[in-house]
Order: sequence, then C-alpha cells, then structure tokens
Amino acid sequence: EMTGQCPFGGDRIGGAVGTPPALSDWYPNRLKVELLHQNGASANPLGDDFDYAQAFNAIDLEALKQDIKTLLTSSVAWWPSDYGNYGPQMIRMAWHSAGTYRIADGRGGAGEALMRFAPINSWWDNGNTDKSRRLIWPIKQQYGSALSWADLIVLTGNCALEIMGFPTYGFAGGRHDAWEADNATYWGPEVWDPKNVTSFDSMVMRDKRWRGRNGDADYDLENPLAATHQAVIYVNPEGPYANGDPMGSARDIRVSFSRMAMNDEETVALIAGGHAFGKSHGMVKADEIGAPPEISPMEAMGFGWHNPKGPGNAEFTMTNGIEGSWTSNPTQWDNDYLENLFKYEWEQTKSPAGALQWTPTDPNASKTPDAHIPGQLNALMMMTTDIALKVDPDYRQVCEKFLHDFDAFTQAFSKAWYKLTHRDMGPRERYLGSEKRNDNDLLWQDPIPLADYALVDAADIAALKQSILALRISPSDLVYTAFSAAVSHRSSDKRGGANGGRLALAPQKDWAVNRRTVPVVVALRTLMAEFNGQQTGGKKVSLADLIVLGGCAALEKAAADAGIATAVPFTPGRRDTTQEFTDIEMFTWLKPVADGFRNYLDDGFAEISQGVAPEELFLDKAQLLSLTAPEWVALVGGLRAMNANHDGSAHGIFTDRVGVLTNDFFTVLTSMDFEWTKADAQGMTFSLDDRATGEQRFTATRADLVFGANSQLRAVAEIYAGSDGHPRFLKAFAKAWDKVMMLDRYDVKV
Ligand code: HEM
Repeated sequence: EMTGQCPFGGDRIGGAVGTPPALSDWYPNRLKVELLHQNGASANPLGDDFDYAQAFNAIDLEALKQDIKTLLTSSVAWWPSDYGNYGPQMIRMAWHSAGTYRIADGRGGAGEALMRFAPINSWWDNGNTDKSRRLIWPIKQQYGSALSWADLIVLTGNCALEIMGFPTYGFAGGRHDAWEADNATYWGPEVWDPKNVTSFDSMVMRDKRWRGRNGDADYDLENPLAATHQAVIYVNPEGPYANGDPMGSARDIRVSFSRMAMNDEETVALIAGGHAFGKSHGMVKADEIGAPPEISPMEAMGFGWHNPKGPGNAEFTMTNGIEGSWTSNPTQWDNDYLENLFKYEWEQTKSPAGALQWTPTDPNASKTPDAHIPGQLNALMMMTTDIALKVDPDYRQVCEKFLHDFDAFTQAFSKAWYKLTHRDMGPRERYLGSEKRNDNDLLWQDPIPLADYALVDAADIAALKQSILALRISPSDLVYTAFSAAVSHRSSDKRGGANGGRLALAPQKDWAVNRRTVPVVVALRTLMAEFNGQQTGGKKVSLADLIVLGGCAALEKAAADAGIATAVPFTPGRRDTTQEFTDIEMFTWLKPVADGFRNYLDDGFAEISQGVAPEELFLDKAQLLSLTAPEWVALVGGLRAMNANHDGSAHGIFTDRVGVLTNDFFTVLTSMDFEWTKADAQGMTFSLDDRATGEQRFTATRADLVFGANSQLRAVAEIYAGSDGHPRFLKAFAKAWDKVMMLDRYDVKV
C-alpha cells in the first residue's frame, strides 16, 4: 500500500500522468490528430538503425524451425500440451493473429503482432492465446531481435501444421513488430465493461454494427469491419446471437470471410482445414473465469482468464466454452473432419460450460481420445459454424468436392493458409527467407513483374523532365496525376501506390476521382513510347515512373516560380504491371470514399449525417499514408497551391498565384482579415469573406478549414505561415511529397 511521504509533495495523490478523465473523455468527438504519431520511432527499443531484414536473413531458418518443432512436441507443467502436442493451439494463435485483417482499410492482420496488445490481447475470442505466446517465448528469447514476434507467430503456425503431416505452401519473414497498442483502428461501435464479457452470449451488442436483422434483405455490416461481433476475430461459433442457427451462421461466415478477402472455397478450406486439428475447451462456467490480461492483477504477469478449477489447465481447461474435438486423431492431417461432418447427423447439446454445440445422433459414432486422461474416449463435437458448412448450399458444394478429393482440399488449404498469413505484407520485395514463394500466379499479392531492362540515368531523367514540361499538360494536372497514383497506397496492408502503373489500369482508371488523370496518362504513354523507341541497349522508362516524374518536374518549376529553387527527389525503378495481374474486385476496395488531399468526397458521403465527418476520413487517409501531422499539413498546403482538386474547383485554393508554390494557403488560413461562414446548411462548404469589405475572397471545404480550426493542425499551419515559414514549408513539402511517392518502393528501402 502507498503510505508515507507523497513524492509529489502533497498529502494525497489524486492522479498521475494519464489518470482519467483524459481529453477524449471530455471531448469524445475531437479529431485525434495525435494518432498519426502512434508507434513512432521513439517507441521502438531496437532503434532507428536496426536492419531487421539483415538480422532475419542471418538466421538459419531450418534450425529455427527445428527448434520450434521440438518445442511443439514437449510439455510444461504450467500449461500441459493437449495430446502431447502444442501444434493445434499454435495454429489457432497464428490464425487469430492473421484473422483480424479486413480488406476495406487493410488494417488488422498478422503483420505487427498486435495480438500482444490491447484490445486484441484481451478479446474473449483470444482466450488462452496468452499461454500460446508465452510457451514460445524461449524461442523468441533465443533468437532475440533477429526474429520478430509477428514472424515467429506465423512461422510457429506453419511448423505446427508440418509436424502434423500437412504440407505448407511457404513462409516469408519480414514482419516488423508494433511496440504499443493500436489506438486507431476502428473495431466497431460497441463498448462494455470488459470485466463483464465472459462468454460469447454476453456479447449481444452486435446490432450496433449491423443494419437489419439476420434474414432481412438489407442485412449489412458496417465498413470497414469484418468481424460480426465486437471482441471477436470473425464470427460467433454458436451462431448469430449464440442462437445455434446454422444458416444464419453461414451468412455471418460469408460476410466476415469475404471481408477478409476470402472466397467460398478458401473459406471452407480454412475452416475445415483448421478444425482437422486440436479441440475446443469448455470445462468451466465462463463466469468463474478471471479477467482478461489487460485488466488482470499485477501478479498475473500478463496472463488473463485465470481458471480456478483444478490446476486451471489440462483436463480443466476453459477457453471459449465449447468442449471437444472434431476428429478422432486431432494431431494428424486427414479428412476426418469432413467425413465426420457428412457421415453423421448432428444434434444440439451443451458443453460443461453451458455453450451450445453439436454432437452425433448416432450413439455408435466414432469417439475421440481425451486430450489428457489416458484411456478416456469422448464424443465428437461440431460447432454451429461447422454445421453451417454442411447446411449452406454453396459451402456444401465445396465441402463435397473436398470430401471426395483430399488432395484438392490439401492444396486449397495450403494456398489459403499462405494467403491468410501473408495477406497484409504487401509487395513480394518485403518477403524474407528461403521459403518465400515468388510465383506471379498469386493474384492477391498484386504482382508487378520484375524489370528486364536497364533503368534511366540522371541525364535521361533531366531530359525527360524537359520533355514532360514541353507537353501541353498543366503543372497542376501533372501534380494531380502523380499524387493520384501514389495516394492509393495504404501502409496497413501495403497495397496500392504508384509502382505498377495501375493508375492506368482498371479499376483505378475508371474512378471518378481519377478522371483528371486520364488525358495525362495518354500523353505520358506517348512520350514513353517515343523515349523507349529511341533507346539502344535495352534501356526503358516505365509509365509508372513517368507519372511520378511529371509531378516532380511540375513541382520544381512551381518552386522556382515562387523564388526558392527546390529539388524534388525522384528515384526511378517503378515497373508497369498488367491488367491480368490486377484483381479488379480486390482493387475496388482501394477506391476512396473521401480524399481530402484532392478535396474529394464520394456522393454517398457528401453529408455529415453519414456519421463520419470528412475530416475524420481525411485523418484516416493521412494515417494510412503513415504521415506525421507536419507532413500532412505541408502536403495539403502544396497541393492547394498547385490547384490539385479533383474537379478543378476553387475550394481551398487560397491564392492569386495558382501553380506557384507559395505558402499563401497558410497565411490565409491563419489570417483574421477573413471571416468564415457556412455556405450550406450542413457546413460542408464555406465562404471566406474580406472582413473589411464583406466581399467573398475564397471558398473552402472541411478538408481545408480543418487545418485552421483544429488546434494541433493549426499549430503546424502557423509555422508554415510565419514570416520565416515559406522556405520551411517548401522543404517540408518536398520531403513529404517524396515520402508519398516512395511509400511502396520496398525494392529500394528496408
Ligand atoms: C479452435 C471457432 C475457423 C483453427 C477453435 C475454437 C473455437 C473456434 C471456438 C475453440 C477454442 C478453444 O476453446 O480452445 C472457430 C470459428 C471459425 C474458426 C467460429 C470460423 C467460422 C478456424 C480457422 C482455423 C481454425 C480458419 C485455421 C485455419 C483452429 C484450431 C483450433 C481451433 C487449430 C484448435 C485449438 C486448440 O486445439 O487449442 N475454433 N474457428 N479455426 N480453431 Fe477455429
């Protein structure tokens, strides 16, 4: 107990740094600009100069895998292994690490081992994954910083599959751990006291994220969510509302797994494949189980879900509440899961913990050995989500195919597992290690074939800049086009970006927000053909490079016109890909609903009553580009100076010298010479009037005025507006511009 002298000098301590109420308790709707600075370099104990790729590549991967496999078939007293094999629980750990991925914003996934931190480490669905990670700590400790948690978690899943006779498709390292909880990702609107969430059926608050009830025609899940409940990785194993309805469950599975970018065949392969292994744990009533890790007592040392019964593990284990195994040999890859699912009729029953599950109606059905008690045989088990695969006609078709073709099943699961666990790693340049796969046939990797030609040199680049500026394209259009190509990148799953030249391919070329780029692409393509036609010795420039170079050339001219000669860096080497290597459906997820950089709002979001304000979507985009607040502010100032609005409108173009890289945007934004008034009832657009004469001088959107209205953004805007602000702004702008152009250049950066 804290007694005696108060270190703060008073008698009574009421709070310390971070004690609630915090800013967001007082002002829950404030724009949380500080989220841009999450998980920054200052949080990283490895330091800026640590080269993970180099460290990882020095590992003997075979030896590492052998170390993991040896550990998997051991057992420790504090958490004895089921069947003498930790494999199954490690597959579940790896699956849960990856399964938070959702394609709408690319967030979630195995890429940063975020399952170590709240809230994910404390979701009911992640019960006892704290034990799985602690079990492999000796491996992590042995390999130290050369092996990230994120890589180890996935690799352990692969090793687990392999020791049980399953042929994995490949493994790539290269995941960089996060160092703090992710406070930014939207996991759904529901809030509850985490202490009171002790089972799936206590999670009835799913309605907030759904429109319509299960069975309604307009039954729909909020974007960008993929999980059907708060604190669940994907769906409730007991069915929607824990109601045991297999058809409803199938609908939930389809929504959730397709948001994970999995089709029906991949979905069945994953669920049926995963549940060939291990068991579910439900020996104790959920309300007897302790708090999750994030709110467990100090002496729990990061563990949660304390189980008071017996030793709290082995045959007393309580994880999710359902009890039993799907197969007769849960540590062997075989087709027993599907065979059992179809061989038997299944009826509902309850686990010892009271969870709803299914058991064969046939009393003579095969049994499965107990995971701990020698000689004891238990009834087989299916979850409502497993029965769903048999009941839903489309899933059933896939099941039947796999039931009769075990090799096809094995291959489908193998490829789907590789996709699941590598989905958010981005371009193959990020993949490390001898087991990575480089085939161009995995469309989800958004392949960009390697260059088989020599790159342009400095003299070519200088000449090409002149040629571009000599085309009849406005600098504004050049900047708009380069930015449009690059801004599609998202640091979450590292998709999109200028590399590949996909701005010129479907679906991007057809998006309304990219309409301005179409004639520019045509002109640059002609220039490319001319240049490449003149070369001897196999030298070429790509369209992707020319698109970026055009922006750089226009900006250098605009900076010179502003009186401050500024070099805008350009690194050649982008390659063009093809339509065939571009999955149109999967790229359509990158289509912006809002892009404040280009002052764009999708029609559907043109009203604030949609719930999310344009400036919040703008912040979301800035975060996906991994921008800092100063970079964000500088970029917008420069883009407005260049008149880079999607529709050529005058919103936010606070200057009389359009196309010149002045800091006028900031001087106007911070000036009291203007009065700002709403130009529409919603407050989506504004008028900036001369305070003295009342005359309208400029117009603006929320994506413009937020830089003067929000206190944190204004603090930066003031710096760029200061008497010494112009050169500082130009420097910051050129750097931020280059950062955005280079976001996807994993071929040249670590
Ligand atoms: C175990 C649900 C998909 C692999 C479990 C458990 C539940 C569950 C409730 C029991 C956890 C426990 O109490 O220990 C679901 C649902 C799914 C799904 C609702 C989707 C509809 C998958 C997928 C995989 C997978 C896609 C992997 C590819 C496993 C494994 C276990 C397991 C290996 C056994 C863990 C152990 O033995 O400790 N699943 N799962 N599951 N799941 Fe799934």
